[in-house]
Amino acid sequence: MREIRTQVAIVGAGPAGLLLGHMLHLHGIENVILEHRSREYVEKRVRAGVIEFGIANLLEEVGAGERMRREGLVHRGIELRYDHSAHRIPLSDLADGKSYTVYGQQEVVKDLIALRVDQGSPLHFETEVTSIGDVNTSRPYVDAVSDGEEIRVHADFVAGCDGSFGASHRAFPSDVLRRFERVYPFSWLGILAEAAPATEELIYGRHENGFVLYSMRSPTISRLYLGVRPDETLDRWSDDQIWDELAERLSTNERPEVNRGPILERGITAMRSIVIEPMRYGRLFLAGDAAHIVPPTGAKGMNLALADVRVLAEALDTYYVKSDESLLDSYSETCLERVWRAEEFSNYMTQMLHPNFDDDFENGVQRARLRQATRTRETATVLSRNYVDLNTM
Ligand code: FAD
Ligand code: DHB
Repeated sequence: MREIRTQVAIVGAGPAGLLLGHMLHLHGIENVILEHRSREYVEKRVRAGVIEFGIANLLEEVGAGERMRREGLVHRGIELRYDHSAHRIPLSDLADGKSYTVYGQQEVVKDLIALRVDQGSPLHFETEVTSIGDVNTSRPYVDAVSDGEEIRVHADFVAGCDGSFGASHRAFPSDVLRRFERVYPFSWLGILAEAAPATEELIYGRHENGFVLYSMRSPTISRLYLGVRPDETLDRWSDDQIWDELAERLSTNERPEVNRGPILERGITAMRSIVIEPMRYGRLFLAGDAAHIVPPTGAKGMNLALADVRVLAEALDTYYVKSDESLLDSYSETCLERVWRAEEFSNYMTQMLHPNFDDDFENGVQRARLRQATRTRETATVLSRNYVDLNTM
């Protein structure tokens, strides 16, 4: 078995693990990142696309925002569509001038990997972590396998940034860990298409057939989502059926509908809310999707992950510089307050925009919520602040 010694072992090279590695590097804290998948795979994985105001500033502050500032699309509003009419929410006007940036998660990941490779810091792809041990001692370790070779990383701390399918929470004893979960009765069918977006701002729509979202990645690439049944499969949808359904759900009396083009990528994502408490056990810290999942309707997943890492990087720095463990001790509580706020907002957006095919009372409530969000300044203000900057306000 090959043995490696470092200060912080990081499991997973998603946005959370990569940003943590980078921030620790800036603080002069040695770290090793172990990632199950290949570099090509993680750089191509199409997921979230909305970066909050404060999180965009964070990426810039740590030197990872240069391309995002150049290529990202800055947006100041969203549109809500329901009952065949369109209503703009002027987010920036209602949220102290703050805007959000549309920039794909895989671009953030590419930028962070490029920085890491430039720095020459250890980042092991195709290396699967199989177990994490001794987390309740001062010498935890992480075991991994790479191309048949066994590796043990000895560290002062372990950061579990291994996402929703990760295993790091298994190192928590079952009587310590609490898991809160809600499963929603729908999924999202998402496409990436070579087509100029027919809208300048994101459109979230509630149509009697289901949810719809019109987003984008660039002036020539559109990203769109349809709410579908939870057991939906891709093979049941031809390209034309997808476009027809998008056009129908986006139709209003006065607006252009949708620009069609070749579909480059497609996938189905289940919708869940999960919170794991606490986010720390001994010297193991969970961050990002490893600790919590939000349904994507509020665009919070990646932002939450990056915000956790900011707290963790500062806590580790304080520990190494001042031998002060207080921020490590408060890590879980500090994060969870924000995490539950994001869960609440994501749940609110989800429940407002996905019609319920079995419960007409619920549908009446949803439409009342939409009217309130689009007609009442106070409600629109809360929505705006949460949308543009929940994680750093
Ligand atoms: P991840 O990005 O999941 O990274 C975890 C990493 O750990 C992965 O690279 C994984 O390969 C690695 N890993 C896992 N297990 C091991 C192991 N045993 N050993 C080593 N490495 C391991 N959010 C939105 O806001 N909008 C969206 O449209 C959206 N779509 C999504 C679609 C899908 C299919 C998924 C799964 C998530 C989506 N999200 C979306 C959520 C958002 O992408 C996540 O919140 C974000 O990726 C969290 O980052 P992370 O670094 O915590 O986890
Ligand atoms: C995107 C994804 C989201 O979940 C969301 O709420 C807004 C935009 C996107 O992929 O662009």
